[in-house]
Amino acid sequence: MADHASSAPHPDFLDKPTLSGDRVLLRPVTVDDVPALMPMFQDAETSRLTGSHDDGELDEARIRTWYDTRGTQDDRLDLAVVEQTTGNVVGEVVLNEWDPDNESCNFRICLVPGSYGRGLGTEATRLIVGHGFQKLGLHRISLEVYAFNPRARRAYEKAGFVTEGVLRDALLWEGTWVDATVMSILAPEWFRREQADGA
Ligand SMILES: CC(C)(COP(=O)(O)OP(=O)(O)OC[C@H]1O[C@@H](n2cnc3c(N)ncnc32)[C@H](O)[C@@H]1OP(=O)(O)O)[C@@H](O)C(=O)NCCC(=O)NCCS
Repeated sequence: MADHASSAPHPDFLDKPTLSGDRVLLRPVTVDDVPALMPMFQDAETSRLTGSHDDGELDEARIRTWYDTRGTQDDRLDLAVVEQTTGNVVGEVVLNEWDPDNESCNFRICLVPGSYGRGLGTEATRLIVGHGFQKLGLHRISLEVYAFNPRARRAYEKAGFVTEGVLRDALLWEGTWVDATVMSILAPEWFRREQADGA
């Protein structure tokens, strides 16, 4: 059992940051981003990759309300991913399911179709995870990725996530059971990587 040596302040999720990298900039997502983000909700392959069972009808009003209220959430962080070269919004990254007692969050990411495979997801992941550890003082960030999504898994590994185990038959997609892999990164691992990269 590792000691708890953190003196991190209570996380302020209302402080919505702008985080800049070489390829992407992350900034607070707003209702104005809905047109750019709509392909995430309309694309069947994106629904499969994220395991999103919908009821067949896209409720745009509900989606607009959702993004209109992200700026006032005090227990989660929703950031738009903006591609540096074009200024286009190409997706979102989220720290959610905050567990204050255990200083942990879940992480999720989704880019719009057409923006995959250019390193944007890996960098966006690194940026928000770094914020989670450095500014929010989290200890653990975890995620789940389905077995049919090796691209996402690879991006998470590049950002430092480590495989913990498998949730068997976690998703039933069009009649087929699919496993989910649980991955996580811990604060000491992140800071070690940072130190090694800066060395
Ligand atoms: C998952 C996602 C965020 C990754 O972001 P991305 O910008 O596409 O990923 P990156 O370009 O940073 O990295 C992808 C890596 O996977 C590799 N890869 C791509 N397809 C692969 C495959 N079929 N098998 C193994 N590796 C694969 C790429 O080669 C790259 O690794 P490399 O740099 O070592 O060559 C993005 O693709 C996405 O949003 N997809 C749709 C929604 C989704 O899957 N969300 C995640 C749900 S858990």
